[in-house]
Amino acid sequence: MFEGGEGSGKSTQLARLSALLTQRTVPHVCLREPGGTPLGTEVRRLLLDRASDIDPRAEALLFMASRAQLVDRAIRPALSRGDVVLLDRFFLSTYAYQIAGHGLDEAEVRSANRFATHGLVPDVTILLLFPAREGLVRAGARASAHDRMEAMGDSFHDRVSAALSAFAEPAWQATHPECGSIVPVDAAGSEDDVAARIQAVVNQRWPGTCS
Ligand code: TMP
Repeated sequence: MFEGGEGSGKSTQLARLSALLTQRTVPHVCLREPGGTPLGTEVRRLLLDRASDIDPRAEALLFMASRAQLVDRAIRPALSRGDVVLLDRFFLSTYAYQIAGHGLDEAEVRSANRFATHGLVPDVTILLLFPAREGLVRAGARASAHDRMEAMGDSFHDRVSAALSAFAEPAWQATHPECGSIVPVDAAGSEDDVAARIQAVVNQRWPGTCS
């Protein structure tokens, strides 16, 4: 899994890791959330459209709908074939954006998430840490206009960013075993520097994959 705030470079880094796995002939698929299936792509359009008026609970459930479809139609089949799954965001984003950002009840959202994932636990999550406000500027420059989530406002994104930093703490991870292992990676510096940090994490877990 790749997780991080807006403009943290996770999609770029995921593409780089995918290119490396292709070179090493490691069978893998790249998926993203929300999205990754025809239903998920429709849900993504609704969720990110600034014209959509979506209540925070409806928003959480739409992310879960995309997730349930992705888990059953794309992730499980890929894992059964023996493929590695590289995923651009997963449910840690719900913990950051819907629980911390919107203030939804943690126990309720965790329970809905268990329903959506059937208890699937990621092997490892690369958590790219990058200052939220700089990331938003990057994301805005890239897309020319902020999408509905990016446009939530500074205090929302500050809460998301604080939550992402908390997820890097062993104490938080010990109380959230459903999230699996989360490895914080500094996303500052050049694309090459960040890629090298990520490859070191992958190599440590699966020796020889990126060396
Ligand atoms: P991105 O993947 O292109 O960054 O856009 C997805 C947006 O959706 C991003 O702002 C994070 C947000 N998001 C949530 O709020 N909750 C979630 O569970 C997920 C997967 C994404």
